[in-house]
Amino acid sequence: MNFNNKKVLITGASRGIGKATALAFAEKGATVGINYRSNTEQAQKTCAELPGNGHHLFKYDVSKKEETEALIKDFVSHYGKLDILVNNAGISIFHDIDEVDFEHWTNAWENTFKTNLFAVANTSYWAAQAMMKSGGGRIVNVSSRGAFRGEPTKPAYGASKAAMNAMSQSLAKKLAPYKIYVGVVAPGFTETEMAAVTLTSAERENLLRESPFQRMAQPKEVAHAVLFLASEGAEYASGTIIDVNGASYLRS
Ligand SMILES: NC(=O)c1ccc[n+]([C@@H]2O[C@H](COP(=O)([O-])OP(=O)(O)OC[C@H]3O[C@@H](n4cnc5c(N)ncnc54)[C@H](OP(=O)(O)O)[C@@H]3O)[C@@H](O)[C@H]2O)c1
Repeated sequence: MNFNNKKVLITGASRGIGKATALAFAEKGATVGINYRSNTEQAQKTCAELPGNGHHLFKYDVSKKEETEALIKDFVSHYGKLDILVNNAGISIFHDIDEVDFEHWTNAWENTFKTNLFAVANTSYWAAQAMMKSGGGRIVNVSSRGAFRGEPTKPAYGASKAAMNAMSQSLAKKLAPYKIYVGVVAPGFTETEMAAVTLTSAERENLLRESPFQRMAQPKEVAHAVLFLASEGAEYASGTIIDVNGASYLRS
């Protein structure tokens, strides 16, 4: 896979899967825009680790609709074009229905959907405007195994990712005539801060047993699937959802 001269924007790229994806694109010749929300020091560290030149930080909160417009416009004015958008930023909040009060419940739903779904719809809107003008592009969305298998302690998370999958497939159909290809990667548990924060050690043990690999995914394994969907030659796979879950949850 070769991404020479490609300008790639990755949301939530300061750490975790986004960071691994940024590294993988940069290793294959891309220039990467690193979006993040708050931790500038971490984002600067990640940017400095990328091979090649021209990588740049874009500090925008994608859960705010006006910031999604500003992010894409800033990226296009900085680089002149947007070839690939990776919607990776996501949050995961516990809200067990038998434990939380109504306020916690509604906040969890609203905040999860703002970041995991509406942000993706909004960055995709502005990216599509730019890509339609420039003659095409690619959008890859980072979903989750939780979309398929249920998330009993975080139902908003599972629902947001299922909606993301459906939206991505709708956009794949709508945007193909414009040479804009849309794909999804659905990881299982992956060794990042999100997983560290949301898992108890007992849950971790159980999870390791779910996969015949008896381990979590490494962020770079998820990145590999993102790069495939964004690569030349993968156009006809538009609308696909690639599972990267160590055979822990299989669908056919
Ligand atoms: N880790 C897993 O086990 C797992 C499994 C399945 C799917 N996923 C999905 O993979 C994606 C990445 O997960 P991860 O584990 O790598 O997450 P992570 O380690 O928690 O990193 C999250 C990244 O997203 C950024 N971010 C969060 N909210 C943002 C916002 N509103 N605007 C801009 N940036 C924002 C953070 O930036 P700041 O630090 O600056 O806030 C950070 O760079 C998510 O969509 C997640 O749902 C993860």
